[in-house]
Amino acid sequence: MSADTTPQPIIVSDRNLALELVRVTEAAALASAHWTGHGQKNDADGAAVEAMRKAFDTVAIDGTVVIGEGEMDEAPMLYIGEKVGSGGPAMDIAVDPLEGTNLCAKDMPNSITVVALAERGNFLHAPDVYMDKLIVGAGLPDDLIDLDASITENLRNLAKARGRDIGDITLCALDRERHEELIAKTREAGARVRLISDGDVAAGIAACLDTSSVDIYAGSGGAPEGVLAAAAIRCMGGQMQARLMFEDDTQRERAQAMNPSKKPDRKLGLQDLAAGDVLFSATGVTSGFLLDGVKRMPNSAITHSLVMRSKSGTLRFIKGYHNFNTKTWSAR
Ligand code: FBP
Repeated sequence: MSADTTPQPIIVSDRNLALELVRVTEAAALASAHWTGHGQKNDADGAAVEAMRKAFDTVAIDGTVVIGEGEMDEAPMLYIGEKVGSGGPAMDIAVDPLEGTNLCAKDMPNSITVVALAERGNFLHAPDVYMDKLIVGAGLPDDLIDLDASITENLRNLAKARGRDIGDITLCALDRERHEELIAKTREAGARVRLISDGDVAAGIAACLDTSSVDIYAGSGGAPEGVLAAAAIRCMGGQMQARLMFEDDTQRERAQAMNPSKKPDRKLGLQDLAAGDVLFSATGVTSGFLLDGVKRMPNSAITHSLVMRSKSGTLRFIKGYHNFNTKTWSAR
């Protein structure tokens, strides 16, 4: 049988789209980097949101924001339900235009800009509540981690599966009072603890990178950030379990309304958080675990981004050189 040589219509491939996404996170990083170290997290966030929203206008998708800056009445741009893109395949979009607003304001490590994309209906619609998270990297037996098991058991299983002493395992968690027991139990088990002040998307990704010294991420952080971390982990082949945490019935009812067919308190796996083919892009604002921050020069800047596709499992680190004097730049 001869191969079908009929010319196929050119559609936006997710390969092209992945590179379009870098432009979006780069734009947000360049805008917020202007505010690095100035102690004004809202201005830094506002600049990132505006630049990201504008950059989406050039991306050939029919996009709907499902993880964004809040409800329509709370956020002027990139609110949940907002349509973005210049037209094309129907995609759901998860964004955190500036993840680690304090880190940017204080010029501390690990502030990043983040976008993930999936075909419609594939991201958990996460309300703005806490999410309990447990994350490890690839190359481990299936279902190694369990949110319902003790942290001691999870650490023992991880050390055994990695063929390492538990004393060589590093757990990363947000430095919060609510994590006192988690931290104490981890140290009791003999493992190390790396505490971070903010930025659990980068920390979750770090747990999946061979080159980082983080072996497991645990603890509670923002639920929207959990969906973004899951999108990245789908591309990297790690494992994640999570559960939404509610302070009251109003929060639980909100989660139920956002995902009517699912029990809000259930344990969530990676596929519940981010299913289907997923694209992910992040750009560093300040240097950290994953990425170098924006390097600003008088008329130019250098950005460092990570772009991933779940379909191929390819990770690309992209260095962008941006010349603010060229016509191309000023036309944006
Ligand atoms: P922002 O960028 O919105 O400030 O979030 C930073 C962050 O550290 C997230 O990475 C994390 O998921 C969440 O805040 C933790 O929330 P809290 O500070 O309430 O513990």
